[in-house]
Amino acid sequence: MRRLRKNERLRALLREHDVTPNDLIYPIFVHEKNKIEEIPSMPGQYRYPVSELKKITKKVEDLGIPGILLFGMPEKKDEVGSEAYSDKGIVQKAIRNIKDNTDLLVITDICLCQYTSHGHCGLVSGGIIKNDDTLKLLAKTALSHAKAGADIVAPSDMMDGRVLAIRTELDNNSFEEILIMSYAAKFLSSFYGPFREAAHSAPVFGDRRTYQMEPGNILEALREVELDIKEGADIVMVKPALPYLDVIFRVKEKFGLPTAAYNVSGEYSMVKAASKMGWIDENKVMEELLLSIKRAGADFIISYFALEYASR
Ligand code: PBG
Repeated sequence: MRRLRKNERLRALLREHDVTPNDLIYPIFVHEKNKIEEIPSMPGQYRYPVSELKKITKKVEDLGIPGILLFGMPEKKDEVGSEAYSDKGIVQKAIRNIKDNTDLLVITDICLCQYTSHGHCGLVSGGIIKNDDTLKLLAKTALSHAKAGADIVAPSDMMDGRVLAIRTELDNNSFEEILIMSYAAKFLSSFYGPFREAAHSAPVFGDRRTYQMEPGNILEALREVELDIKEGADIVMVKPALPYLDVIFRVKEKFGLPTAAYNVSGEYSMVKAASKMGWIDENKVMEELLLSIKRAGADFIISYFALEYASR
Protein backbone atom coordinates (compact mmCIF):
# COMPACT_ATOMS: atom_id res chain seq x y z
CA MET A 1 0.00 0.00 0.00
CA ARG A 2 2.78 2.44 0.80
CA ARG A 3 4.09 2.43 -2.81
CA LEU A 4 0.88 4.29 -3.66
CA ARG A 5 1.63 7.05 -1.17
CA LYS A 6 5.30 7.47 -2.07
CA ASN A 7 5.20 11.10 -3.16
CA GLU A 8 2.84 14.04 -3.59
CA ARG A 9 2.39 13.46 -7.35
CA LEU A 10 1.11 9.96 -6.74
CA ARG A 11 -0.99 11.04 -3.80
CA ALA A 12 -2.61 13.79 -5.86
CA LEU A 13 -3.19 11.46 -8.79
CA LEU A 14 -4.84 8.81 -6.68
CA ARG A 15 -6.87 11.03 -4.39
CA GLU A 16 -10.47 9.76 -4.39
CA HIS A 17 -12.27 12.80 -3.04
CA ASP A 18 -11.60 16.49 -3.02
CA VAL A 19 -13.46 19.66 -2.11
CA THR A 20 -13.29 22.57 -4.55
CA PRO A 21 -14.91 26.04 -4.32
CA ASN A 22 -17.51 24.66 -6.78
CA ASP A 23 -18.77 22.39 -4.02
CA LEU A 24 -19.58 25.22 -1.64
CA ILE A 25 -22.48 27.56 -0.90
CA TYR A 26 -21.92 30.55 1.38
CA PRO A 27 -24.66 31.58 3.85
CA ILE A 28 -25.20 35.33 4.18
CA PHE A 29 -27.20 37.20 6.84
CA VAL A 30 -28.90 40.48 5.87
CA HIS A 31 -30.54 42.90 8.24
CA GLU A 32 -32.38 46.23 8.15
CA LYS A 33 -29.77 48.13 10.18
CA ASN A 34 -27.45 50.39 8.27
CA LYS A 35 -24.17 48.86 9.41
CA ILE A 36 -22.17 45.65 9.22
CA GLU A 37 -22.26 43.77 12.54
CA GLU A 38 -19.98 40.90 13.45
CA ILE A 39 -21.81 37.92 14.97
CA PRO A 40 -20.13 37.33 18.35
CA SER A 41 -20.60 33.55 18.44
CA MET A 42 -19.51 33.17 14.80
CA PRO A 43 -16.18 35.00 14.43
CA GLY A 44 -15.63 36.14 10.85
CA GLN A 45 -19.36 36.09 10.00
CA TYR A 46 -21.45 39.25 9.76
CA ARG A 47 -24.93 40.65 9.39
CA TYR A 48 -24.94 42.88 6.32
CA PRO A 49 -27.16 45.77 5.27
CA VAL A 50 -28.39 45.47 1.66
CA SER A 51 -26.12 48.40 0.73
CA GLU A 52 -23.02 46.32 1.65
CA LEU A 53 -23.98 43.15 -0.20
CA LYS A 54 -22.30 44.06 -3.45
CA LYS A 55 -18.79 43.86 -2.04
CA ILE A 56 -19.19 40.53 -0.27
CA THR A 57 -21.13 38.83 -3.06
CA LYS A 58 -18.59 39.96 -5.66
CA LYS A 59 -15.93 38.39 -3.48
CA VAL A 60 -17.90 35.12 -3.33
CA GLU A 61 -18.20 35.18 -7.11
CA ASP A 62 -14.52 35.98 -7.68
CA LEU A 63 -13.52 33.02 -5.50
CA GLY A 64 -15.44 30.64 -7.78
CA ILE A 65 -18.16 29.79 -5.27
CA PRO A 66 -21.37 29.16 -7.27
CA GLY A 67 -23.92 30.66 -4.91
CA ILE A 68 -25.13 31.99 -1.62
CA LEU A 69 -27.88 31.09 0.84
CA LEU A 70 -29.75 34.11 2.18
CA PHE A 71 -31.16 34.64 5.66
CA GLY A 72 -33.03 37.81 6.54
CA MET A 73 -33.64 39.61 9.80
CA PRO A 74 -36.72 41.80 9.51
CA GLU A 75 -37.18 45.15 11.21
CA LYS A 76 -40.27 43.96 13.06
CA LYS A 77 -41.73 40.59 13.90
CA ASP A 78 -45.38 39.69 14.39
CA GLU A 79 -47.53 36.64 15.16
CA VAL A 80 -47.85 35.65 11.51
CA GLY A 81 -44.38 36.55 10.22
CA SER A 82 -45.69 39.13 7.71
CA GLU A 83 -42.25 40.38 6.72
CA ALA A 84 -41.33 36.93 5.40
CA TYR A 85 -43.71 37.25 2.45
CA SER A 86 -43.74 41.02 1.95
CA ASP A 87 -42.42 42.07 -1.46
CA LYS A 88 -40.58 44.82 0.41
CA GLY A 89 -39.07 42.33 2.89
CA ILE A 90 -35.36 42.24 3.65
CA VAL A 91 -34.66 39.03 1.73
CA GLN A 92 -36.64 40.23 -1.30
CA LYS A 93 -34.56 43.43 -1.37
CA ALA A 94 -31.34 41.47 -0.94
CA ILE A 95 -32.18 39.09 -3.81
CA ARG A 96 -32.78 41.99 -6.20
CA ASN A 97 -29.51 43.61 -5.16
CA ILE A 98 -27.45 40.43 -5.59
CA LYS A 99 -29.05 39.62 -8.93
CA ASP A 100 -28.28 43.16 -10.15
CA ASN A 101 -24.64 42.86 -9.21
CA THR A 102 -23.60 39.24 -9.75
CA ASP A 103 -24.39 36.02 -11.61
CA LEU A 104 -24.42 33.99 -8.42
CA LEU A 105 -27.06 31.38 -7.74
CA VAL A 106 -29.31 32.88 -5.11
CA ILE A 107 -30.78 30.35 -2.72
CA THR A 108 -33.23 31.57 -0.08
CA ASP A 109 -34.16 30.00 3.23
CA ILE A 110 -37.93 29.65 3.54
CA CYS A 111 -39.04 29.71 7.17
CA LEU A 112 -41.00 31.89 9.56
CA CYS A 113 -38.85 31.71 12.71
CA GLN A 114 -36.87 34.90 12.07
CA TYR A 115 -40.14 36.72 11.35
CA THR A 116 -42.51 35.55 14.07
CA SER A 117 -42.72 37.18 17.50
CA HIS A 118 -42.86 33.71 19.11
CA GLY A 119 -39.82 32.48 17.14
CA HIS A 120 -41.43 29.27 15.90
CA CYS A 121 -41.10 28.06 12.31
CA GLY A 122 -44.87 27.88 11.87
CA LEU A 123 -48.06 29.60 12.99
CA VAL A 124 -48.92 29.10 16.64
CA SER A 125 -52.38 28.71 18.08
CA GLY A 126 -53.05 27.70 21.68
CA GLY A 127 -49.38 26.80 22.12
CA ILE A 128 -49.49 24.41 19.15
CA ILE A 129 -47.58 24.78 15.87
CA LYS A 130 -50.27 24.63 13.18
CA ASN A 131 -49.01 22.65 10.20
CA ASP A 132 -51.51 23.24 7.41
CA ASP A 133 -52.15 26.91 8.15
CA THR A 134 -48.41 27.48 7.89
CA LEU A 135 -48.16 25.95 4.41
CA LYS A 136 -49.93 28.86 2.73
CA LEU A 137 -47.52 31.35 4.25
CA LEU A 138 -44.48 29.31 3.27
CA ALA A 139 -45.78 29.07 -0.29
CA LYS A 140 -46.40 32.81 -0.33
CA THR A 141 -42.87 33.44 0.93
CA ALA A 142 -41.39 31.19 -1.76
CA LEU A 143 -43.41 32.95 -4.46
CA SER A 144 -42.26 36.39 -3.34
CA HIS A 145 -38.63 35.21 -3.37
CA ALA A 146 -39.11 33.78 -6.86
CA LYS A 147 -40.61 37.08 -8.04
CA ALA A 148 -37.60 38.93 -6.63
CA GLY A 149 -35.29 36.65 -8.66
CA ALA A 150 -34.30 33.71 -6.44
CA ASP A 151 -33.02 30.63 -8.29
CA ILE A 152 -33.61 28.05 -5.57
CA VAL A 153 -35.94 28.17 -2.58
CA ALA A 154 -35.01 26.13 0.46
CA PRO A 155 -37.75 25.40 3.01
CA SER A 156 -36.21 24.80 6.45
CA ASP A 157 -39.37 24.83 8.58
CA MET A 158 -40.02 21.05 8.66
CA MET A 159 -43.81 21.36 8.28
CA ASP A 160 -45.36 18.36 6.51
CA GLY A 161 -46.43 19.00 2.93
CA ARG A 162 -44.48 22.23 2.40
CA VAL A 163 -42.60 21.05 -0.67
CA LEU A 164 -45.83 20.24 -2.50
CA ALA A 165 -47.45 23.50 -1.36
CA ILE A 166 -44.46 25.50 -2.61
CA ARG A 167 -44.14 23.56 -5.90
CA THR A 168 -47.84 24.11 -6.63
CA GLU A 169 -47.71 27.83 -5.83
CA LEU A 170 -44.60 28.32 -8.00
CA ASP A 171 -46.04 26.35 -10.93
CA ASN A 172 -49.39 28.16 -10.76
CA ASN A 173 -47.51 31.43 -11.12
CA SER A 174 -45.29 30.35 -14.03
CA PHE A 175 -42.18 29.79 -11.94
CA GLU A 176 -41.74 26.19 -13.10
CA GLU A 177 -38.00 26.71 -13.51
CA ILE A 178 -37.35 27.62 -9.87
CA LEU A 179 -35.75 24.74 -7.97
CA ILE A 180 -36.67 23.51 -4.52
CA MET A 181 -33.93 22.38 -2.18
CA SER A 182 -35.66 20.93 0.85
CA TYR A 183 -34.12 20.73 4.27
CA ALA A 184 -35.42 17.17 4.10
CA ALA A 185 -33.71 15.52 7.07
CA LYS A 186 -33.34 18.35 9.53
CA PHE A 187 -32.56 17.21 13.04
CA LEU A 188 -33.36 18.86 16.35
CA SER A 189 -29.83 20.02 17.05
CA SER A 190 -27.94 22.01 19.64
CA PHE A 191 -25.50 22.90 16.87
CA TYR A 192 -27.93 25.63 15.70
CA GLY A 193 -27.18 27.72 18.82
CA PRO A 194 -24.89 30.34 17.25
CA PHE A 195 -27.24 30.73 14.27
CA ARG A 196 -30.16 31.51 16.53
CA GLU A 197 -28.12 34.24 18.16
CA ALA A 198 -27.08 35.50 14.73
CA ALA A 199 -30.60 35.49 13.33
CA HIS A 200 -32.48 36.32 16.54
CA SER A 201 -34.64 33.27 15.91
CA ALA A 202 -34.70 31.25 19.13
CA PRO A 203 -38.24 30.19 20.10
CA VAL A 204 -39.70 32.30 22.90
CA PHE A 205 -41.43 29.28 24.46
CA GLY A 206 -40.90 25.54 24.10
CA ASP A 207 -38.61 24.03 21.48
CA ARG A 208 -38.75 22.65 17.94
CA ARG A 209 -39.25 19.01 18.94
CA THR A 210 -42.63 18.58 17.27
CA TYR A 211 -41.27 19.49 13.85
CA GLN A 212 -37.50 18.85 13.79
CA MET A 213 -36.30 15.25 13.87
CA GLU A 214 -35.09 13.10 16.75
CA PRO A 215 -31.31 12.71 16.44
CA GLY A 216 -31.51 8.93 16.83
CA ASN A 217 -33.79 8.30 13.86
CA ILE A 218 -32.37 7.10 10.56
CA LEU A 219 -35.39 5.32 9.03
CA GLU A 220 -37.52 8.36 9.75
CA ALA A 221 -34.91 10.54 8.02
CA LEU A 222 -35.18 8.34 4.92
CA ARG A 223 -39.00 8.63 5.03
CA GLU A 224 -38.74 12.43 5.33
CA VAL A 225 -36.47 12.51 2.29
CA GLU A 226 -38.71 10.16 0.31
CA LEU A 227 -41.77 12.31 0.98
CA ASP A 228 -40.00 15.49 -0.07
CA ILE A 229 -38.86 13.84 -3.30
CA LYS A 230 -42.43 12.69 -4.01
CA GLU A 231 -43.66 16.20 -3.37
CA GLY A 232 -41.20 17.61 -5.91
CA ALA A 233 -37.89 18.41 -4.22
CA ASP A 234 -35.06 18.80 -6.75
CA ILE A 235 -32.28 18.73 -4.17
CA VAL A 236 -32.47 17.21 -0.69
CA MET A 237 -30.46 18.35 2.28
CA VAL A 238 -29.23 16.77 5.47
CA LYS A 239 -28.64 19.10 8.41
CA PRO A 240 -26.46 19.33 10.49
CA ALA A 241 -23.63 17.66 8.57
CA LEU A 242 -20.88 16.37 10.84
CA PRO A 243 -22.90 14.49 13.47
CA TYR A 244 -25.05 13.03 10.64
CA LEU A 245 -22.52 11.79 8.07
CA ASP A 246 -24.22 8.39 8.15
CA VAL A 247 -27.49 10.03 7.18
CA ILE A 248 -25.84 11.81 4.23
CA PHE A 249 -24.38 8.50 3.12
CA ARG A 250 -27.69 6.62 3.40
CA VAL A 251 -29.71 9.35 1.67
CA LYS A 252 -27.30 9.54 -1.26
CA GLU A 253 -27.08 5.78 -1.58
CA LYS A 254 -30.83 5.19 -1.43
CA PHE A 255 -32.12 8.03 -3.61
CA GLY A 256 -29.17 9.21 -5.71
CA LEU A 257 -30.68 12.68 -5.87
CA PRO A 258 -28.50 15.79 -5.69
CA THR A 259 -27.74 15.88 -1.98
CA ALA A 260 -26.67 18.90 0.02
CA ALA A 261 -25.27 19.00 3.53
CA TYR A 262 -25.41 21.97 5.88
CA ASN A 263 -22.22 22.44 7.89
CA VAL A 264 -24.09 24.46 10.51
CA SER A 265 -23.18 27.33 12.81
CA GLY A 266 -22.15 25.26 15.86
CA GLU A 267 -19.85 23.12 13.73
CA TYR A 268 -18.17 26.31 12.53
CA SER A 269 -17.97 27.99 15.92
CA MET A 270 -16.40 24.96 17.63
CA VAL A 271 -13.52 25.01 15.16
CA LYS A 272 -13.09 28.76 15.60
CA ALA A 273 -13.07 28.48 19.38
CA ALA A 274 -10.61 25.58 19.52
CA SER A 275 -8.28 27.31 17.10
CA LYS A 276 -8.44 30.55 19.10
CA MET A 277 -7.30 28.55 22.11
CA GLY A 278 -4.40 27.29 20.01
CA TRP A 279 -5.55 23.68 20.34
CA ILE A 280 -6.04 22.80 16.68
CA ASP A 281 -4.81 23.97 13.28
CA GLU A 282 -7.91 25.72 11.97
CA ASN A 283 -7.12 25.43 8.26
CA LYS A 284 -6.26 21.76 8.36
CA VAL A 285 -9.26 20.90 10.52
CA MET A 286 -11.56 22.85 8.20
CA GLU A 287 -10.20 20.94 5.18
CA GLU A 288 -10.60 17.59 6.89
CA LEU A 289 -14.15 18.32 8.04
CA LEU A 290 -15.35 19.54 4.65
CA LEU A 291 -13.72 16.53 3.02
CA SER A 292 -15.53 14.15 5.39
CA ILE A 293 -18.87 15.63 4.34
CA LYS A 294 -18.04 15.28 0.66
CA ARG A 295 -16.76 11.72 1.16
CA ALA A 296 -19.98 10.79 2.94
CA GLY A 297 -21.80 11.57 -0.30
CA ALA A 298 -22.76 15.25 -0.31
CA ASP A 299 -22.71 16.85 -3.75
CA PHE A 300 -22.21 20.22 -2.16
CA ILE A 301 -21.82 21.80 1.25
CA ILE A 302 -23.41 24.90 2.69
CA SER A 303 -20.69 26.28 4.93
CA TYR A 304 -19.62 29.43 6.77
CA PHE A 305 -16.09 28.26 5.88
CA ALA A 306 -16.75 28.70 2.14
CA LEU A 307 -14.84 31.98 1.77
CA GLU A 308 -11.97 30.88 3.95
CA TYR A 309 -11.69 27.55 2.15
CA ALA A 310 -11.80 29.10 -1.31
CA SER A 311 -9.29 31.84 -0.39
CA ARG A 312 -6.62 29.60 1.02
C1 PBG B 1 -34.43 28.26 10.34
C2 PBG B 1 -33.05 27.77 10.22
C3 PBG B 1 -32.14 27.40 11.24
C4 PBG B 1 -30.93 27.15 10.60
C5 PBG B 1 -31.13 27.32 9.24
N1 PBG B 1 -32.44 27.69 9.02
C6 PBG B 1 -32.28 27.37 12.71
C7 PBG B 1 -33.26 26.51 13.37
O1 PBG B 1 -33.86 25.62 12.79
O2 PBG B 1 -33.46 26.78 14.56
C8 PBG B 1 -29.64 26.77 11.29
C9 PBG B 1 -28.39 27.04 10.54
C10 PBG B 1 -27.14 27.00 11.33
O3 PBG B 1 -27.10 26.61 12.51
O4 PBG B 1 -26.12 27.38 10.75
N2 PBG B 1 -35.38 27.33 10.65
